[in-house]
Amino acid sequence: MRDAAPQTIYLRDYTPFGYLVDGVELTFRLHPTRTRVMSRIRFRPNPEATDHRFFLHGEGLTLISAAIDGRQVSPEPVEGGLVCPAPDAPFTWEAEVEISPETNTALEGLYMSNGMYCTQCEAEGFRKITYYPDRPDVMAPFSVRIEGGENILLSNGNPGAAGAGFAEWHDPWPKPAYLFALVAGDLVNHPDSFTTRSGKQVALNIWVRPGDEGKCAFGMQALKDSMKWDEEVYGREYDLDIFNIVAVDDFNMGAMENKGLNIFNSSAVLASPETSTDANFERIEAIIAHEYFHNWTGNRITCRDWFQLCLKEGLTVFRDAQFTSDMRSASVKRISDVIALRARQFREDNGPLAHPVRPDSFVEINNFYTATVYEKGAELIGMLKTLVGDKAYYKALDLYFERHDGEACTIEDWLKVFEDATGRDLGQFRRWYEQAGTPRLTVSEEFNNGTYTLHFEQKTPPTPGQDVKDPRVIPIAVGLLGANGDELRETTVLEMTEATQSFRFQGLAARPVPSILRQFSAPVILERETSSAERAFLLAHDTDPFNKWEAGLSLAREGLMAMICDGAAPDAAYLEAVQMMARDDSLDPAFRALALGLPSQDDLAQALFDAGHTPDPQAIWEALETLRQAKAQAMQDLAPRLYAQYQVTEPYQPDAAQSGARALANAALAMITRLDGGAQAQRQYDSATNMTQQLAAWSCLLQAGNGAAATGAFYDQWRHDRLVIDKWFMLQILHADPADAADTAARLTEHLDFTMKNPNRFRATLGGLTASPAGFHHASGKGYALLADWLIRLDPVNPQTTARMCSAFETWRRFDADRQALIKAQLERILDTPDLSRDTTEMVTRILAAR
Ligand code: TRP
Ligand code: ZN
Repeated sequence: MRDAAPQTIYLRDYTPFGYLVDGVELTFRLHPTRTRVMSRIRFRPNPEATDHRFFLHGEGLTLISAAIDGRQVSPEPVEGGLVCPAPDAPFTWEAEVEISPETNTALEGLYMSNGMYCTQCEAEGFRKITYYPDRPDVMAPFSVRIEGGENILLSNGNPGAAGAGFAEWHDPWPKPAYLFALVAGDLVNHPDSFTTRSGKQVALNIWVRPGDEGKCAFGMQALKDSMKWDEEVYGREYDLDIFNIVAVDDFNMGAMENKGLNIFNSSAVLASPETSTDANFERIEAIIAHEYFHNWTGNRITCRDWFQLCLKEGLTVFRDAQFTSDMRSASVKRISDVIALRARQFREDNGPLAHPVRPDSFVEINNFYTATVYEKGAELIGMLKTLVGDKAYYKALDLYFERHDGEACTIEDWLKVFEDATGRDLGQFRRWYEQAGTPRLTVSEEFNNGTYTLHFEQKTPPTPGQDVKDPRVIPIAVGLLGANGDELRETTVLEMTEATQSFRFQGLAARPVPSILRQFSAPVILERETSSAERAFLLAHDTDPFNKWEAGLSLAREGLMAMICDGAAPDAAYLEAVQMMARDDSLDPAFRALALGLPSQDDLAQALFDAGHTPDPQAIWEALETLRQAKAQAMQDLAPRLYAQYQVTEPYQPDAAQSGARALANAALAMITRLDGGAQAQRQYDSATNMTQQLAAWSCLLQAGNGAAATGAFYDQWRHDRLVIDKWFMLQILHADPADAADTAARLTEHLDFTMKNPNRFRATLGGLTASPAGFHHASGKGYALLADWLIRLDPVNPQTTARMCSAFETWRRFDADRQALIKAQLERILDTPDLSRDTTEMVTRILAAR
């Protein structure tokens, strides 16, 4: 498809649709290959529009008949839909189309998963269901009738009439088409109910395939906790009589916030102690909250166009992070989020796929559901809250809900609400939405006569299409510590607005130790030259848990860089400091588990590249292994003590306290395994009664090269559970020796249980390979070739998932000439594939354009 240059859409070209929609009635006559969709849509000319061409989106639809005000019409097919002469007055459009859900493998529109009908319409999937103005600024109430035999039949809103083989649903809240949903299948429910604070009863259901009923209780509790939390913290109540969640096995992403009918990847909702890890439970709780919170931030107030995606996603990610912080440990959540932000968003922001939180152009919108829009988008909300303060933040949010309920909004609307609520000018803040790239914040210091000065300089490197960057407003949370670890100055937020700026602290008896960017108050890269003694001091004494963790990580990173670049031995100062930290029983075990962690391979590659080196993935892997071995040696007494002390003896609970204890004990097990070759891990594997313990033990065994027996046993035990078998696929590849990772992945693609049609399985396998940088970047190029082979195969089946996985190649310019040549050849091979999707074409083209 290299020649059929796909069209670029620009934010600046936005115009409102020529018509308003007063009501939508849909009837579905379900059939695997010949589903009929009848629509009756009431249109009215939009007084605010100038262009009244009647264009409806439609893709892959067979039009059976169309009528306007009861008279048959013959619309003209055009690129991406149809146009039809329409009256300059209110009118009713009726159409009947035929579609084939069973052959829809893209998992967008109406499709089938294990015999169950389901839909995914965000962003532009509704146009695969019927002809419609498929854009988020067209909002309407929907009534739906489903004719579907013996099945459970679900759609948005409140239930209406139902009988043998049919059900009707009515959603009174005007919504854009991307929030439409329909589900039909042999489903069983886990029911419950919730009473809102104004006393309204809401029926709650989680719908699953028979056999999965036992895995719903945790998700249901998370839903009720979310409903209560949104009432208490944001004053937001639920607004329908019923809230349904459905678990689907074949799904491109985590979950979808369809009004009153959330659809979930089964991995994002089904949970049991035997089959789910602590991390799975926490993720499920967060995703349920996320989708529920969209009911207000996304559904009641939606986006004017897809460029405004961060309006709902950034805010909703921020809200779900607040929720998790309240339910669990706030500092542990913050540290985990920053780890993920750096791994995914910083990587994106510093490569060829960098784009603003609010992009100004795209080819395929599905390619913009990114870490930048979601995670950096959430960071922007956090910075706003820090800048205006908590009280003003909630005042602005109240105004946002009051002013914009029922509307499709822009980032300008959002910032205006904050300006009106606080009287602040947010003109400079807007640059965070408009300019891509991660700012580098360098800091130097001075101490004179009791005055301590911090000098900051901010610089953002160029990103594709944006060479010049303007200074941004950066909230820098700073505290000062004394030599004995006392907090001399509590956290204050410095507001940096200039390219260079200095801040003074007066009346200090001696030079303090600064703790800068506490809680990671801005998504920047802080560059500060300091001694390892000072980092060790901060790891021991900083009162800010984030910076305490950060100090240990920086210490580890510097030691690793010295090992890689200068052949240094593992840093004794780090080993000493991290051991003192781990030994401190006053610290939360979950925190200690995190602080025992090392920078990722990718983090080190980026750090080496930034420091002017060419990262060698194998050397990075070896340095990490050497350091881990040295750490295990250094902690040979402490690790068994921690392991014993943090065994959980109470019945399994996926709460913060128990998961923290297990995380620390399992970090200790990893160290023990490096010395005993897996004896302890095998004992844990054999006696494990929950997946967290079982998986941790098996991972240790795999890493020790002694996993074969457990690998076989694990498969035999779990062969009937798709979600657990995904773990089985992934971990074997992840923990393989780098030289074998690609071969292991290749071998597993030949396993009977491998199928590329299931995105979870595909991601477990090929994503397992790309999650092992030394394996993926093996000098032979076999990792690159294997991934490219499978992306080429998957593209015609599922373009969305193919395109997302292309980002494994986004860092290619970091590496040596040989690896760059190997990757470039694979990218060109993908691009030369006949009929390559628009999704994948856009991604590969952008990656190849990297300078
Ligand atoms: N809006 C969804 C969320 O944030 C994510 C989403 C977007 C999605 N497009 C999708 C999910 C396609 C599944 C498939 O939760
Ligand atoms: Zn979302």
